[in-house]
Amino acid sequence: ITVQVNKSVAPVPKNMFGLFFEDINFAADGGLYPELVKNKSFETDDRLIGWRAIKGGSALTEYIVLSEQPISKSNTHYLRLTSRTNSPDAGLTNEGFRGMGVKQGENYNFSIYARRGPGSISGLTVTLEDEKGNTLAQTKVGGLTNEWKQYTAVLRSSATSGKAHLKMTVEGTGTVDLDVMSLFPQDTWMKRPNGLRTDLVQLLKDMKPGFLRFPGGCIVEGRTLAQRYQWKETIGDLNSRASLINRWNTEFAHRYTPDYYQSFGLGFFEYFQLAEDLGAEPLPILNIGMACQFNSAEQAPLSATTPGGPSAVATGAEAHNHADDISLETFIQDALDLVEFANGPVTSPWGAKRAAMGHPAPFNLKMIGAGNEQWGPQYIERYKPFAKALKAKYPNIELIASSGPDPGDERFKYATEQFRELKADFIDEHYYSKPEWFRENVGRYDDYPRNGPKIFAGEYAAHPATPVSPRDKNTWEAAISEAAFMTGLERNGDVVKMASYAPLFANVDAWQWGPDLIWFDNLNAYGSPSYYVQKLFSLNKGTTILPVQLPGNAKNGANNLFVSAVADDPAGDVVVKLINYSTSARPVTLNLAGAKKVGKTGKAMVMATNDLQTQNSLNEPTKLAPKEETFQVKSGSAVSYTLAPNSFTVLRIPGK
Ligand code: AHR
Repeated sequence: ITVQVNKSVAPVPKNMFGLFFEDINFAADGGLYPELVKNKSFETDDRLIGWRAIKGGSALTEYIVLSEQPISKSNTHYLRLTSRTNSPDAGLTNEGFRGMGVKQGENYNFSIYARRGPGSISGLTVTLEDEKGNTLAQTKVGGLTNEWKQYTAVLRSSATSGKAHLKMTVEGTGTVDLDVMSLFPQDTWMKRPNGLRTDLVQLLKDMKPGFLRFPGGCIVEGRTLAQRYQWKETIGDLNSRASLINRWNTEFAHRYTPDYYQSFGLGFFEYFQLAEDLGAEPLPILNIGMACQFNSAEQAPLSATTPGGPSAVATGAEAHNHADDISLETFIQDALDLVEFANGPVTSPWGAKRAAMGHPAPFNLKMIGAGNEQWGPQYIERYKPFAKALKAKYPNIELIASSGPDPGDERFKYATEQFRELKADFIDEHYYSKPEWFRENVGRYDDYPRNGPKIFAGEYAAHPATPVSPRDKNTWEAAISEAAFMTGLERNGDVVKMASYAPLFANVDAWQWGPDLIWFDNLNAYGSPSYYVQKLFSLNKGTTILPVQLPGNAKNGANNLFVSAVADDPAGDVVVKLINYSTSARPVTLNLAGAKKVGKTGKAMVMATNDLQTQNSLNEPTKLAPKEETFQVKSGSAVSYTLAPNSFTVLRIPGK
């Protein structure tokens, strides 16, 4: 293998390896956003999702959701509890998101709005219990009046439980109105009051991501256009952010979770803030007036390239959701206002809203995605005026167009041609395919035109063939195949400027789609082998792409050996990534052509196992993770190294 150390293909793109965040698999509520109470405001379509009467209720206690005289115009439903008996069982529990995760000695901020009605109810008892009903913390809320008022307390948990719940009982008889009951950890990322779950953010931070794409994914478009993601509804006062059914609350997902809603506690402000915390460029994807995939032109949904995904199953009402229902102007205006929200001065209407939320400084938004996964003529026709209006007002904002989820599909090719003609800044390509597709398409961008739009590989993941359950698809075979493919992305960094695995997160108890990068329960989290592949690429992305020559001048991997190389100029290292997709060890010699000086000791980071079915889990979170070792560079500028069977190796060699 020859690595041309004294030649440069191009600089490594600054934001090359980033993150795709979508609220799928309980990634937001029940995941990154650590509110413990589900449906805290009784605003979901089925108003009592998450709530249960204690011991199944009795004829002496009544629970009814009302909307007369609510706490505000934007939070219109509340619970009226009527108790005709002075019983310790008059009350209700909230189950959390497949339970609540609480830790021994940690503090949790409790708050509730209450208003007493006729009768003698003067207070509430609030108890945090583990799954067996043992008390972990308790507080009393007293002095209720006949006006809405917020009451707060701090609960300190006496033990750790991943399956706790919150119980609230009333003292006395009569009626009481209750709303916005919240239990929120004090230990959040940056200790923010509405902050994010620390261990999950840390896993992201550790990847040093170049960008953060949000809020999806199909979630952008919604199951219907009426249920699309509207960023303006997700900012400002927390209690005014109305819940919306999640696009992944569908029996056509890999797994059906009928209790899946979006609270928007994690909204656009919080996404921008997260991007800033991670040192990643924010990359919002906006709806341009089309619902999820299916109304991209008058055509049938794509075939099942995303196994069990939306395209495999769209029928009936989901398929008929025409773009013309809402004027395009609305979507254009949303985009223009978003730029002002992110970047505008505090004296501008939307910049003022950002400042009021605690961030007067701009977020420096530089890119926007127009639509998620669309491709047909109807999409192109909408893209044109959208792009024109955005560029007229904000010429420096780069716009990302979509080509759909299947590179083999004619419509994908059609969209690509159209966007080349339109001179789009970026095309967002998605590929969910079998592991072999990734290994066979390593050269996808080798001969790609260099003079047109740049590529954003915005969603990809290797999906081992069914019948393996989606839960069991995060195998080493998937991850090593992605690593092979990523060498192709890396060496074509002059045209592929950004790439992100998808989806990012999955709750082990509440997922809808697999495989996923990071899995978690209410207390712990682990990265899949794919996570460590992404992390190794990102942490070793270097600064300059170097030309690599494989044995026999092979382009698409030489006999299942895949290689890319970069120089990390500040560190003074040559970094070579090598994938040996073979059950045999493979000795290789790297000729560092043109190197003037090569150090004696190199560093190797290795992921290897002969068992391609290896997965990580909550019990064995790092069963397959990189191991570091040093190695001796033996002779001059020729480096000899033996690659382990089925391995991904990153070699850092000091030299220039
Ligand atoms: O990543 C899961 C889904 O896959 C995304 O929501 C969609 O864009 C794609 O079909």
